[in-house]
Amino acid sequence: MPVILPLRPKHERAHLSMSWASHSNVVASLASMAIIRTMINTLTIQLRCIGCGKTFSEDEVRYYCADCGPRQGNLEVLYDLDTIKRSFNPESLKSNKEPSIWRYLPMLPLSGGFIQPIQIGGTPLYEFEDVGKDYGVKSLFIKDDGKNATASYKDRASAVVIIKAQEKGLPTVTCASTGNAASSMAGYAAATDLNSIIFVPASAPEAKVTQLLIYGSTVFAVDGSYDDAFDLCTEAATKFDWYNRSAGMNPYLVEGKKTGAWEIAEQMNWDVPDVVLVSVGDGSVISGVVKGFLEMHKMDFIPKVPKVIGVQAEHSAPLAKAFPQSTEDHVVLEDLTDAHTIADSIEVGFPRDGIKAIKYLKKVNGDFVVVTDDDILDAIKIMARSTGVFGEPAGAATFAGFVKLCEQGKLNANDRVALVISGNGLKDIAAARKAAQAEANQIPCSLEAVQKVMEKLS
Ligand SMILES: Cc1ncc(COP(=O)(O)O)c(C=O)c1O
Ligand SMILES: [Zn+2]
Repeated sequence: MPVILPLRPKHERAHLSMSWASHSNVVASLASMAIIRTMINTLTIQLRCIGCGKTFSEDEVRYYCADCGPRQGNLEVLYDLDTIKRSFNPESLKSNKEPSIWRYLPMLPLSGGFIQPIQIGGTPLYEFEDVGKDYGVKSLFIKDDGKNATASYKDRASAVVIIKAQEKGLPTVTCASTGNAASSMAGYAAATDLNSIIFVPASAPEAKVTQLLIYGSTVFAVDGSYDDAFDLCTEAATKFDWYNRSAGMNPYLVEGKKTGAWEIAEQMNWDVPDVVLVSVGDGSVISGVVKGFLEMHKMDFIPKVPKVIGVQAEHSAPLAKAFPQSTEDHVVLEDLTDAHTIADSIEVGFPRDGIKAIKYLKKVNGDFVVVTDDDILDAIKIMARSTGVFGEPAGAATFAGFVKLCEQGKLNANDRVALVISGNGLKDIAAARKAAQAEANQIPCSLEAVQKVMEKLS
């Protein structure tokens, strides 16, 4: 029987989840993870500039290295992996009943308090061997992150950053977003006593804006692109001292985003796929996925790091263009002023974590593949009809990338390929209707009318 709690004022609810559920096995294991985290000690966490390599303590800097500036000077979070792996390893995870991203708490930059009882991560990984074989690879795996609390991969990052805001004692969080970062932030913030203030382009899909409104966020629908909304949000965050969760800007996002890689590896019993496809806008999700695999490899959880391939849309592909001419030390990136694609979540001309994404992908022999909007629409339909998984355009883009790589002969018959489906199809009904290319049969309520239609179809 579920326990139904009376509604309490928000300020009383901040720590409720931990005490309320502290009798369950799940929270017992969460508590023990928090103890491990505390033993490992947050002091072992450092922030390092991806540009000049300078390191900072957590208290020294909030967003990026002042010498290198945003993007060039975005920060990465470093842990003492040798110490962590003494108490956190495949064996310890076997006995951990926590079903969400918090099972990886020792690998997150949080002390373990403020966790709310809504499901973040722990999403299914399905294997479709036959579908994989149809396309000429050994097997196809689908990580369905549309199953998250607010129906996108972004929940993983928002939960971590909101808890970070609580640890820092900051009452207001803000972000600019193509839609999902915002809805995930609004959703998790709604379970806390924080205020959320959101900047989206006025063109954001209705479902995503509706999520913001129902969760009670203050929403600014900006007359401009996502990139314009981003700049406005940055200015407002500075002026009003709001904690900024915008992509690239906040170093803790990638930490939440790496948990998808941890889950894929653990769900495959650490026998990781050969290739993993991730759709790319700002480059933050893919940075997280690569970082997750790299950390697991350094800690001897996995025998190799998969090849990670970013998927970009044809008219929104600055990172795919930059990749071949860049190296791990020097990224040559030209921004786009008129990025456009049906996949609104990856419509980004000025990628805020793109330098980090390219640097990380160079470390793992990664690559990019570019797909058209028509490829994406086909992929929404074909994936839904062959697997039952319904992705929003940016989610299904990885399926489109997979098909394209198969057509280009870039995958091998022995490859086990995993696709990250980063958002649920119900997020963008207009695109899905376009993809379906079908209409309901409008009929009077009679068996005869049903028969007529069936005869036409046969
Ligand atoms: C569904 C979905 N897929 C992919 C992405 C791309 O992530 P990133 O911008 O970190 O590259 C986003 C970002 O909003 C998203 O919402
Ligand atoms: Zn720097």
